[in-house]
This record gives sequence, C-alpha cells and structure tokens, in this order.
Amino acid sequence: MSNRVFIFDTTLRDGEQAPGASMSVQDKLEIANQLAVMGVDVIEAGFPVSSPGQFDAVRTISEGVDGPTICALARAVPRDIDSAAEALAPARKARIHTFIATSDVHIEAKFENPRYGTTLDEKRETIIKMAVESIHRARAFTDDVEFSAEDAGRTDREFLCRIIRAAVEAGASVINIPDTTGYCVPSEYAAMFKMVREECGIAEDVILSTHCHDDLGLATANTLAALNAGARQVECTINGIGERAGNAALEEIVMSLNVREDRFGLTTGIDTRLLTPTSKMVSLYCGSVVQPNKAIVGRNAFCHEAGIHQDGVLKLRETYEIMRAEDVGQEIESIRLGRHSGRHGFFTRLDRLGLTVEAEKREALFDRFVELADKKKEIFDDDLVHLVNQGSDVSEQLVYNLESWDVSVGDNQKPNAAVRVKNLATGVVVAKEARGDGPVHALYRAIDRAVGEAHKLTHFEIRAASEGADAFGEVSVTVAFEGKTFDGLASRTDVLKASADAYLIALNRLSSFKIHEGDKSLQWVGDRIMGAFEGAD
Ligand code: KIV
Ligand code: ZN
Repeated sequence: MSNRVFIFDTTLRDGEQAPGASMSVQDKLEIANQLAVMGVDVIEAGFPVSSPGQFDAVRTISEGVDGPTICALARAVPRDIDSAAEALAPARKARIHTFIATSDVHIEAKFENPRYGTTLDEKRETIIKMAVESIHRARAFTDDVEFSAEDAGRTDREFLCRIIRAAVEAGASVINIPDTTGYCVPSEYAAMFKMVREECGIAEDVILSTHCHDDLGLATANTLAALNAGARQVECTINGIGERAGNAALEEIVMSLNVREDRFGLTTGIDTRLLTPTSKMVSLYCGSVVQPNKAIVGRNAFCHEAGIHQDGVLKLRETYEIMRAEDVGQEIESIRLGRHSGRHGFFTRLDRLGLTVEAEKREALFDRFVELADKKKEIFDDDLVHLVNQGSDVSEQLVYNLESWDVSVGDNQKPNAAVRVKNLATGVVVAKEARGDGPVHALYRAIDRAVGEAHKLTHFEIRAASEGADAFGEVSVTVAFEGKTFDGLASRTDVLKASADAYLIALNRLSSFKIHEGDKSLQWVGDRIMGAFEGAD
C-alpha cells in the first residue's frame, strides 16, 4: 500500500457549515488558491444544489483554480448530481462526492416516508439502490466519484459492508467512512477501516477516506487511527472549523504525520510552512478566532512562559519543542514574558532587542521587571524598552487621554463616533467625528483623526473574560509602526469602551516610543495634533 496520504480539504464546504462562518464567492476563490499553493490534493468547493451562492462558488473555483481536484457534494438524487456536474464542468480535474445516510437512526428519521419502504430492511434496499444509481449518474460526468455512507460511525457494520461493496461495483473509486457525529473512539474507528478493507472485498486501488467530526475532541486521533488501518485520504478543514465542534484539523494531521514519520511512515504533499498563513487567512475570512492554544497554528503554540521551560528552550530548543515554529509558518517568538518568567528568559530577550544593561544594574532591573509583571498579564517588547530606558512602565507614559466618546449605531444608519482626545503634553483637546463600517471602526477612525494620524491595526480581538450578558469584554489590539508593534489590552463590561481604551493604550505606547526614540520630539507629536485641526471635516 502506498505511503502517500491524499489531503481532501473541505474548509469551503463542511468548514463553512460552522456556525457564523459564511464566506463570499471571492473569499472562497482566494482560499481555494491558497489551498492549491499549499499542496492539498482535493478541494471540496461546495454543495452546488443547496443554493445559487454554493453553485457559483464551485463554478468559480472550477474555472479559476489549477492543481488540485475540485470536488462538489451531492445527495444521492439526480437533481444534486446534475447540479454538481454542471458546476464542476470547467474544472481540469473534477470529482463528484455523493452521500446518503446509512445508520438506523438517520434512516428512521430521514426516510420515514413509506415510499422508501415500510420496514428497516426495505428502506435499506432503497438506500443501496439510490446510492448505486447516483454513482452511475455521476460516472457519466467524471471517472472520479466518491461515495460517503453518512453516519458510518453508527451504522450497522454488515449493512455498511453491503452498501460499500455496491458503491465500488457501481464505479466509486473513493469510499469515505465518515464519523458524522464524532461518536467513535480511535480503536473502534480503526477497526471499521480494517473490517471494510478485509471483509468487504475492496480492491487495492479503491481509496478509503476518513472524515471525522470533533464532538468528543477525538477527530485528529480518529483520523490517525484510520490511517494506521489503511485509510489513504483524509477529509479535514483548516483550523478544524466545521459543523458543531468542527472537523479534523488539517494542520494537526499533517504535522502529526510529519513529526511522527517514524511511527506512521506516511507523507502528504503539503508545504507545512504555509499552515499558519493559511490558518490566519481562513480565520480572517470567516471571522472565527483561532484559540491561542490551538495546536500548530495558535499564537501560543510555540510560546514558553514558565522560567524552567524558557531556560530549557534557550539552552536547547528540543527540550520543550517537538517541531520548529518556522516549519509551520509561525513567526519565532518563543518566549512570552510574564510573571512566571525567570532571569534567563528576561535577559535573553533584552539581548535580542539589543538592550544592554550594565552588570551592576541587572538585579535591580530584574526586580523592577518582576514588579511590572505582577501588575500586567504580559510584558511586551516595548515595555522592556521603557523599563530599561526609564525604569518605568510604558503605560504610565501617557500622551493622549480620551476625554469623552460617543457612538451611535442603528438599523438605518452608518455607525458614527465622536471623540474628544486631550494631548497631555500640549494640553490641546481635539474633537473629531467619523463614520465607519461598524462601531469600533468608526471609533478608531475618530480617534485617529483626533490624534492626527491613521494607524495600522494589525490585530484586534475581543473575547468574553467572564460569563453572562454583562460579561467583561477583553479587547486586545496591536498597532504597527515602522516594523515595531504596540499592544493594548483593556477589559470592561462595555466592549466599546474597552475597544477605545485598548486602542489608546497602544497609541500611547507608540507615541511615547516616538518621543523617547529621540528622532521624533514631543513637538513632533504636538505638530501632528495641531495638523489635525487642518482639513478637519
Ligand atoms: O459529516 C459527514 O458525514 C459529511 C458527509 C457529507 C461526508 O459531511
Ligand atoms: Zn462532515
């Protein structure tokens, strides 16, 4: 059996079924191109019969994406197959993926109508017939037909074997055995693949495929178990997005095979350095935040906070890292400074930032760092610059103060924000207004106008820091300036206020950096403020 695993990405189909994760056709095309560059073998681009938007997405991707096979989903009914075939027509390599439910619970609920039969046995016969007819119909359009026995994980094994055998005889070349409800455990899922391979008379050239959902957090484990049992196609999504708890995460499977090649002996065609950029792209396009501790692509995946860990990693990276951040496209920022950091981590970061400290001042500086770390959740690079240069917390270096703010939003109006920002150095208060696509956008634009400069926001995240409708909303922002970044974090029950405060903190850091850099004087900041009066609207 070949050791090459085919990666079937279903981010644009099953992934898009994640609550709130809808994407435009253009977004999907861009993601599909990125997936192609990253090296996926098959892109499931959508479910054409389900809506005109889905049809357009499959059609557009079929026209515009080269390299991978483009696949479309279809229920085992003629209308779906025809729609999939029509949408896929421009694709250089096209696959129709047809599916039908096979578990008793699905059959009882979905095939309740007596026209499918009155007993379970009769209904099962109808289902086999529908599967076979659909595969025949799909084969009239393409030789590449995949069949899925939906809810295979909870399907009677004998019936599963019968329908799979019938599907292969009808011309399906890929047989997918989905754990649709994320119900299986690894040993059980693996046993199913072994059973299908050994007892259902499947020829060597038929590819068995995994499709796991993460309801019990076992999607990756189940997928790997199935690969050990002979599966050679993996259906997965970027960031593991998908129905309910999501699908198996592409990045986790690819890196498991990569890091543990000694164990699996399997390879994929994925350029792993594109995993994190692709994760970010999908997260941005479907608006779903990647949890910081997400394996492989989370922003903490390569960060070490505890002193012992930092010390170990600095001495020999392999002590606490099993793969290299750069191999998965993460920027190398492995040491996160906080209250648990030790001397080694602290002074190494200073060295890396080019901040020199005289030997006799080192202990006192470290004490001040510990004091600061006690007050703050995380210490950023610019905090260190100020700690070393002035010995004080940068957040105390206030340049701007938000005197007042007001945001109006409503059904029939574009959000509008009005702010008054005081420059504490000059005493000047500037009042500005701005509209935006959303309330935060309007607020940030108004603040930018008040401080006289548009800023590059590279990160904005809002999360509930407690529970209930009156939960604290924690907002973290990052503003970039000439290759440096300045963070702000604020939490309040009013998320707009938290958004404004976090932004002001970041801007204050940026401004005091400019002031203390020496190349830009306080006057410079004042000039900008005065400049803001001109051209005000
Ligand atoms: O989870 C599932 O069973 C599916 C099928 C359509 C393959 O997504
Ligand atoms: Zn699924």
